Amino acid sequence: MTIKKVGVLGCGLMGSGIAQVSATAGYEVTVLEQEQKFLDKGFSGIEKSLAKFAEKGTLKEPAEAVRARLKGTTNPAGLAECDIIIEAIIENLGEKKKTFSALDGIVKKDAILASNTSSISITEIAASTRRPDRFVGLHFFNPVPLMKLVEVVRTIATSDSVFEAAYQFGQSLGKVPVRTSDKTGFIVNRLLVPYLLDAVRAYEEGVGSIPDIDNAMKLGCGYPMGPFTLLDFVGLDTTYYITQVMFEEFKERRFASPPLLKRLVMAGWYGRKTGKGFYDYADPNNPVPQKF
Ligand code: CAA
Ligand code: NAD
Repeated sequence: MTIKKVGVLGCGLMGSGIAQVSATAGYEVTVLEQEQKFLDKGFSGIEKSLAKFAEKGTLKEPAEAVRARLKGTTNPAGLAECDIIIEAIIENLGEKKKTFSALDGIVKKDAILASNTSSISITEIAASTRRPDRFVGLHFFNPVPLMKLVEVVRTIATSDSVFEAAYQFGQSLGKVPVRTSDKTGFIVNRLLVPYLLDAVRAYEEGVGSIPDIDNAMKLGCGYPMGPFTLLDFVGLDTTYYITQVMFEEFKERRFASPPLLKRLVMAGWYGRKTGKGFYDYADPNNPVPQKF
């Protein structure tokens, strides 16, 4: 199974990162978005990130050569020649199923289909195609260009050869793959999401202020970011969607959204990407903690 051309669905936080690391590894990459403005935003982020790597001398070639392997399109037909398609659109089952079902008749019969979902069942998304045996989860971590892990997720329907090809594809991107099965949240989010939600509950219960809880976990446990900084970084909208899927699956309070998280999302404060969340990013270099 030779992979030369990579298709990415969505050019947001994750899709742009997946496209970037794929192009950096030498693949020809086409990114599908709903509108040109989302491609422009994603590609501008990629260019900034590539410039940082070029400055540090960690690219094997000029940033422009990597950039030249990246194309954007708003037409699904642009993905017809891809050998692997990695989906990174909004965390919503209906949207993911609709997207894959429409692509099923367009992409090559032997292409590998993958979802970067954080929490949704890979089996359920795969069922929207006529090739669940060729479907896997490839769960990358934010920021994709820096985080070394990729979770490779197999369902009961995934064929051995497709799973191994997806695993090797992850390695070819310079990532360290781990094998996991299609259980909601896989390995990392099964453990990480309850911790992040507990931080919000601790704040709601008056345990400490937002910066004090962040500093406590950074300086007391050596975490690179405190929980509120990480929540804003991941996106509160995405985290809220994840809680809905995980709570529906397990019916346990530790996966349920705390009221404050829901209210921030209802207010349209999604974190860094909208300029406001648990912190205010009017000056992105100097986030100001909010008080609720
Ligand atoms: N591209 C290239 N370089 C980048 C970059 C990017 N996108 N982002 C940051 N950098 C560079 C910075 O310029 C900086 O370079 P210098 O050392 O030359 O200054 C370097 O990387 C370190 O960055 P910062 O100094 O800004 O910050 P940092 O030391 O805290 O590192 C981090 C940044 C690697 C993101 C680190 O904070 C970290 O590991 N945070 C935790 C991230 C995490 O937990 N991610 C998982 C989220 S959960 C998930 O993804 C799953 C899900 O389904 C929700
Ligand atoms: P995002 O909101 O930054 O980006 C989503 C992008 O998908 C948007 O640009 C949107 O325009 C585009 N999109 C929506 N519907 C589309 C469609 N039908 N076709 C093409 N593009 C479409 O979200 P994100 O944070 O990049 O998350 C994307 C996926 O990755 C989600 O499933 C999320 O759970 C998962 N994920 C997120 C993180 C994270 O830290 N944010 C980490 C790992 C996995």
